[in-house]
Amino acid sequence: MAEAGDNERHDAIDALMEESRTFPPSEDFKANALVVGTYLYDEAAEDDEAFWARQSADLLDWAEPWDTILDWELPYSKWFTGGKLNVSYNCLDRHVLAGRGDRVAFHWEGEPGDTRTITYGDLLDEVCQFSNVLKDLGVERGDRVNIYLPMIPEAAVAMLACARIGAAHSVVFGGFSAQSLADRINDAEAKVLVTADGSYRRGSVFPLKPAADEACTNAPSIEHVVVVKRGGNDVEWVEGRDKWYHDLIDGASTECPAEPMDSEQLLFLLYTSGTTGKPKGIMHTTGGYLTHVTYTHKYVFDLHPESDVFWCTADVGWITGHSYIVYGPLSNGATQVMYEGVPNHPGNDRFWEIVEKYGVTIFYTAPTAIRTFMKWGATEPAKHDLSSLRLLGTVGEPINPEAWMWYQEHIGGGRCPIVDTWWQTETGGIMISPLPGATTTKPGSATFPLPGVSSELIDDEGKRVDVGGGYLTLTRPWPGMLRGIWGDPERYLETYWSRFEGRYFAGDGAKLDDDGYLWLLGRVDDVMNVSGHRISTTEVESALVSHPAVAEAAVVGAADATTGQAIIAYVILRGGQDVDVESLRSHVAGEIGAIAKPKMIFITPDLPKTRSGKIMRRLLRDVAEGRNIGDTTTLADESIVDELRARAAISTDD
Ligand code: PRX
Repeated sequence: MAEAGDNERHDAIDALMEESRTFPPSEDFKANALVVGTYLYDEAAEDDEAFWARQSADLLDWAEPWDTILDWELPYSKWFTGGKLNVSYNCLDRHVLAGRGDRVAFHWEGEPGDTRTITYGDLLDEVCQFSNVLKDLGVERGDRVNIYLPMIPEAAVAMLACARIGAAHSVVFGGFSAQSLADRINDAEAKVLVTADGSYRRGSVFPLKPAADEACTNAPSIEHVVVVKRGGNDVEWVEGRDKWYHDLIDGASTECPAEPMDSEQLLFLLYTSGTTGKPKGIMHTTGGYLTHVTYTHKYVFDLHPESDVFWCTADVGWITGHSYIVYGPLSNGATQVMYEGVPNHPGNDRFWEIVEKYGVTIFYTAPTAIRTFMKWGATEPAKHDLSSLRLLGTVGEPINPEAWMWYQEHIGGGRCPIVDTWWQTETGGIMISPLPGATTTKPGSATFPLPGVSSELIDDEGKRVDVGGGYLTLTRPWPGMLRGIWGDPERYLETYWSRFEGRYFAGDGAKLDDDGYLWLLGRVDDVMNVSGHRISTTEVESALVSHPAVAEAAVVGAADATTGQAIIAYVILRGGQDVDVESLRSHVAGEIGAIAKPKMIFITPDLPKTRSGKIMRRLLRDVAEGRNIGDTTTLADESIVDELRARAAISTDD
């Protein structure tokens, strides 16, 4: 492979790896696929606004039609203005009214093995009851409700109840600290907090209420705390403020009309971290968002709601859970699995046991999970009959070609297409992804923008890149796009719209290969600059993971007096494997070129990750550069940092 230094063209990001394996959809898959061929792409290319309007009209029930499809005043878009609809009506009532009330909405599985089967009819009743509860607690249209819950069905109920009465929810992932929760409640000025006593994690009860209590002492806007009983653990009780969910539901009516909302009514806030410490409250509204997630869930996952069982392993506290556990799948009338706990309790095969038990047909997870499964070994999935699976998906970060191949072979049995879906909290729904019956995939590539989505790579000068590396921008508004940052319009402009005029800048680097396939290269802040060459951490990680002894790798650029930045790698080996660091360095040089050879490689038992599974490169950079570690409260396992620091201290530069 050519060294970057030989390139005449100066790419914004040097894309060095080549991947030549291709996987066209099989005849078998195509026979029943919703989309085969290019017709959706052709229709959208002709007139994207008309395309989205047709999707919305076909897929959703509108109480009142819209006057205008798109009202676009850069950087603010409004979709389907004048139209009215209710999200919870679209997710629940319309399925029940059509006679599908007995269809299972959720096969819920608790970590200890207890289960609940919830039909669309059941879910509608409980959502109506909780809507009435919220109204009784004084929640009105336009108010904000905070939700801090584990992976239990009540999380979906609470979200849908807010949508039903026009209150916006702000879900905070149950793994966040009391302080993080308080910051988010205060920013949103929420009136009500919905939480639980605790829930099961890794075999024991993980208490949630103490963090909620602590948050409330610093969050004066909260008037009521509704507590779901799940863990059965003892909790402190603030009389007058705290109420048990089951007590409130017991007395509540199952009748609650779904009032039509304006298309641009605020549906939810979801906080995401930015480059500064203060989280951003990303705003999503009603008609456009629901159109986007319903459309993408249907076509990207080739959903046949009468026969499929869909399982998205994300937590409802992240955008993936909002869009592909709650709103997209329920709007499409899908049957889903929802699981409370961790993938390795009681054994490393828990996910595969669940797939077999419920006959899961479509499985959607994150690359970090796949690499963990690789580490545990192919014997774990091999213990179960996974033949029900027909389609696999990934989301959240670039997937290394080797992890893609492993997923394809050991989970998909070589027969399932893989959809690598690129999107963000800010985009609301999937933007770049294969359509499984129509797209020939390449391992590690998210392929092409979906019909209706327009993206372009551009270089530092803002010029369009047709082949090679660049910055990923979106050039046309889309229905699920964020409507702003809650309370901070300046930051909205600055973060997404200031770097390249007239374009949404996603913050990601990507490359286009000779066939026009898009390869995501991670956040631009994850791009290293080694002797003037911008090298993606993802590519070096992929090269490391392609070594048979390596299960997972994290790469960072650390300040270096000679080369600007030096490549530092942290590597987890596969079970039972041993390898010397020098041969790993040569392996990377062989895969990518000498330019990408890591200066140092540390073998480590684990890596610091956020609770959503993203590797915390900032932290690894701090360790590599010998700095004090800042805030580690969002880490899944804080002890790993000390471990890495100890290793860095005893290492010497070779
Ligand atoms: O860097 C991209 C990465 O995740 C970022 C968005 O993170 P978040 O808002 O937490 O949403 C994650 C779930 C949608 C993106 O800017 N990302 C997400 N999906 C992919 C990805 N990177 C590469 N390939 C993907 N499929």
